[in-house]
Amino acid sequence: MRLRRLSPALASLFILLAAWLPLLPLVGMGWTPAALVCMQGGLALLISRWFGLPGWWQAINALFFPLAWLARQTDIQPLWYLAGFAILALTSLGSLKTRVPLYLSSRRAAEEVAARAPAGARVLDLGCGLGGWLADLKAQRPDLGLAGVEMAPLNWLVSRVRLHGRANVHLGDLWDQNLSGYDVVYAYLSPAPMAELWRKVEREMRPGSLFVSNSFAVPGHVPDETVELHDLSQARLLIWRR
Ligand SMILES: C[S@@+](CC[C@H](N)C(=O)[O-])C[C@H]1O[C@@H](n2cnc3c(N)ncnc32)[C@H](O)[C@@H]1O
Repeated sequence: MRLRRLSPALASLFILLAAWLPLLPLVGMGWTPAALVCMQGGLALLISRWFGLPGWWQAINALFFPLAWLARQTDIQPLWYLAGFAILALTSLGSLKTRVPLYLSSRRAAEEVAARAPAGARVLDLGCGLGGWLADLKAQRPDLGLAGVEMAPLNWLVSRVRLHGRANVHLGDLWDQNLSGYDVVYAYLSPAPMAELWRKVEREMRPGSLFVSNSFAVPGHVPDETVELHDLSQARLLIWRR
């Protein structure tokens, strides 16, 4: 069951292809394309459920080819598809490897960190996305020295333009970033990197500094403080004092 150990995105790639295999003998036997894509969608749904993929991945796999077929029936210029793919690739392709997609912190997440950061503190957002969290923080605490690192080129560009003169935003990998120069390190990533990130925090962060994870726990390490944000995604901040 190696497939079960893959990320849902990679597993879905195999599932979408595998769901075509039993249907191949039907091609050319008078079945309409609409019927074939619907059967493929049904099979993809069954296989996704069998592998225990989360509900929204099951829906994506069930609808992928039926929607692609529907889109083919319209007059949409192919360049729009290329543009859509380019935007996806520039914002999210790396998440196939990092297992950290793009989603954004709420303003409440910045408010709670603003209330705790010491005067003049240096703050780093690991994977700063579109720069929203840093922008919110700067609006509330202009005294803080802000930095962000982001590996997706389009996200980085948006952050950089948006935060020009207010934060240093680097294009790069968070694993290459030394955390020792920061008083507060903020991460809103995913469960996948948390154990390894904690080892980096322990190695590099100085005594007295704060490590803040939005929503994702560190296996085996209870935070010193947990703050419910009561925002749209019902997120919470997990805060460790080093
Ligand atoms: C969930 S988003 C959080 C965005 C922002 N920090 C916020 O809270 O609104 C995670 C971001 O981390 C970036 N990312 C994931 N792995 C990374 C890595 N190894 N190095 C740099 N950025 C990374 C992703 O591209 C994505 O933009």
